[in-house]
Amino acid sequence: MIKSLRGMNDILNEEDSKRFTHFIETATQIASRYGFHYIKTPLLEETALFKRSVGESSDIVGKEMYQFIDKGENDVCLRPEGTAGVVRAFIQNKLDRAGGTQRFFYHGAMFRYERPQKGRLREFHQFGVESFGVESVYEDAQMIMMVADILRELGVGFRLQLNSLGCKECMPPYRDNLVAFIESVEDEICEDCQRRKSTNPIRVLDCKNEKCQSLYENAPKLLNSLCQSCDEDFEKLKKILNANSIRYEIDTNLVRGLDYYSKTAFEFVSDNIGSQSAIAGGGRYDRLVEFLDGRPTPAVGFAMGIERLLELIEMPQNSREGYFLGAMDDEAVDLIISLTQAKRKTDKASCDYRARNLKNHLKAADKMNARYCCVIGSNELENQAIWVKDLENKSEETLSIKDF
Ligand code: HAM
Repeated sequence: MIKSLRGMNDILNEEDSKRFTHFIETATQIASRYGFHYIKTPLLEETALFKRSVGESSDIVGKEMYQFIDKGENDVCLRPEGTAGVVRAFIQNKLDRAGGTQRFFYHGAMFRYERPQKGRLREFHQFGVESFGVESVYEDAQMIMMVADILRELGVGFRLQLNSLGCKECMPPYRDNLVAFIESVEDEICEDCQRRKSTNPIRVLDCKNEKCQSLYENAPKLLNSLCQSCDEDFEKLKKILNANSIRYEIDTNLVRGLDYYSKTAFEFVSDNIGSQSAIAGGGRYDRLVEFLDGRPTPAVGFAMGIERLLELIEMPQNSREGYFLGAMDDEAVDLIISLTQAKRKTDKASCDYRARNLKNHLKAADKMNARYCCVIGSNELENQAIWVKDLENKSEETLSIKDF
């Protein structure tokens, strides 16, 4: 028997697929209210795109990409995340020259060759948004408020962690200070951190090794090294969040696993799903458009991990909905089909293609959670009528086909 690849799941049981669609519908509706519109980019892109954006030194690019040479000898990759493709599309379609603000949302599969475990898949789905052209920190706050709105609407509790990663003015001197600190404890840190020291030193700060973590408690803090502009923006962001009742924790070790961020970085975590607790992450990436050969354009965005959210979502009460139609006589099947089609113009409706007895139709209607079970037997057919039972309040009536 051929099975799906490790870390790649089917979503097919009714409960999960309902949750999945409910998530996409809710997030889409909220993103649209915030003025974002749908963008689709390919699942496959040139490997160079991810190397240049997510960063050669990141775990994603270094260890986790589904990278291969295609039949035309192109070096390609299944996308490990959505931002790089959206930025590529933004530049390729000359939107960086159009000016103004452009806001997009997307959802779809992402691929990372990680060690699968609960909440960590090799193919997973994200819902993400990207906003281009706004330098103001109010936009960062809007992103955070949008995630909070989506999570609240879905009944998902969260903690918000916040940091600032500085900009091209304040990050380099901080990095030098941090490297000097790492060198002072070099003999005691793990091999990964020793490697990170030369590839991407700030990534040592989110090392999961306990010994490293305790050593880094004494490391210089980026938040104490921000330039005036980054510091003012971060203070302003906190003020906006306070004014809008969004609680947050400052996490000076929150550096994110992708290299393109500057200034605001944030993560939403859940305490109810085990060790893979990040349910959304994002931040500002003001230099990425320029870095990928576009015109300098400020940008900010986030992505939510749909699989991690599925078990946390509170589904709305399952009330009966729509129509189930059935024939009790072969002669009535065609009429049942056309009436079902007519009902579908305004309501949810399904039907049985076979003539069956009343008990079977009632059972099927109940199973589908239909509000009305509607049946035509030979009597009804003769009178051009249909028998309708309201399965919620148990009333029954016979209506003319026309009235139905
Ligand atoms: P990220 O933090 O790498 O950010 O991923 C966002 C979310 O995707 C995570 O918080 C998590 O919920 C989910 N996720 C990541 N990896 C896995 C996995 N292996 N299995 C299941 N879920 C996973 C980004 O991808 C950025 N592109 C977000 C962004 C958009 N920043 C700016 N704009």
